[in-house]
Amino acid sequence: MSVTALIVAAGKGERLGGALPKQYRPIGGKSVLRRAVEPFLNHAAIRDVRVVIAPGQEELAKDALAGADVNGFIHGGEQRADSVRAGLDAIEGDVVLVHDAARPFCPPEVIDRLLARLEFVEGAAPVLGVGDTLARAGDQLGEPVDRAGLVRIQTPQAFRLAELRKAYSIWSGDPPTDETSVMRAAGMTVAAVDGDPSLEKLTTPADWTRAEALLAARLVPRTGLGFDIHAFAGDGPVMLGGIAVPYSRGLAGHSDADVVLHAITDALLGAAGLGDIGEHFPPSEAQWKGAASDQFLIHAAALVRGRGAIIDHVDCTIIAEEPKVGPHRAAMRERIAQIMGLRADQVSIKATTSEGLGFTGRREGIAAQVAASIRMGHEE
Ligand code: CTP
Ligand code: MG
Repeated sequence: MSVTALIVAAGKGERLGGALPKQYRPIGGKSVLRRAVEPFLNHAAIRDVRVVIAPGQEELAKDALAGADVNGFIHGGEQRADSVRAGLDAIEGDVVLVHDAARPFCPPEVIDRLLARLEFVEGAAPVLGVGDTLARAGDQLGEPVDRAGLVRIQTPQAFRLAELRKAYSIWSGDPPTDETSVMRAAGMTVAAVDGDPSLEKLTTPADWTRAEALLAARLVPRTGLGFDIHAFAGDGPVMLGGIAVPYSRGLAGHSDADVVLHAITDALLGAAGLGDIGEHFPPSEAQWKGAASDQFLIHAAALVRGRGAIIDHVDCTIIAEEPKVGPHRAAMRERIAQIMGLRADQVSIKATTSEGLGFTGRREGIAAQVAASIRMGHEE
């Protein structure tokens, strides 16, 4: 039996809102669409994964898929059912799994259960019970509805492809919101298998917040250390923590020689296990030659978040006899937070002298050390 997964991603995501349709937005560092296709790409029983998108959204979809290997795009229509019909016309195989791109966390076990049941029936769908009390909607509550014996139907839904095509060809009602309705109207049998709470559809902002929290709960704390030194040379001011601090001398080195931003960048890369600053920003590359240090930090923060990580805190120690850091501490916290997309309370700036000892004590240069705390998942 040859199985094709059909992922419908041609909606506008109006109820969620935002600049980008929800299927193209990142959640935990990866797009919803990529998360939606992965369980099907990784499932041994599935031969082909096809994605239905709105015409003109090829670039968005390609970016969102980030290399995930889907076999070209199919153009969808006005309503979800139009998109499914367009998909059914374009695919091949004996069995189709129709799935909403807006359900990005499909457990492989659900796919196993659906395919196992399909040996005996024309269709199968995952269902969950109803926990809340039900009634007809209205400003004043309408009739109670008995929740016993009711289920909520999720996707993916599995069908014999020829039967689903036949059922759609004779459907005459309003556009259906899923395929079980179409199959049952055509007199075909659809089995219920156990659904899964993680298959909940991302429909509203509250759904999105809940999904982000679920992803965050899977992350583990990690710490990275960064250290950097630059020697004094030439005239001031010195760039320190993203701020031009008035001083008689400046710092020598690659870029603007901001030891604090360099040490934060290294600490972040270290926390995520992504190498070090020299590896990512070689001065030999035109893009980074002479680039301001905030560009390194912006890039490193994006790399770390691209791994699905959350940056919680950076704690910086500046080791220098001069200039005095205290008067600039608040500005540095604000500026670093702004560069990293954090709040100022997630950035700590401390300073110490080295009691006249060593190169910092002799006022030959400034050193900075940083601990960065992040939360990150295991490598996938
Ligand atoms: N869908 C589709 N084609 C449409 C409408 C919806 O392929 N014309 C897809 C959506 O991309 C989504 C799934 O069907 O993956 C479920 O639909 P829904 O949650 O309603 O998503 P949207 O239609 O995008 O959201 P909204 O209704 O809030 O605009
Ligand atoms: Mg919709």
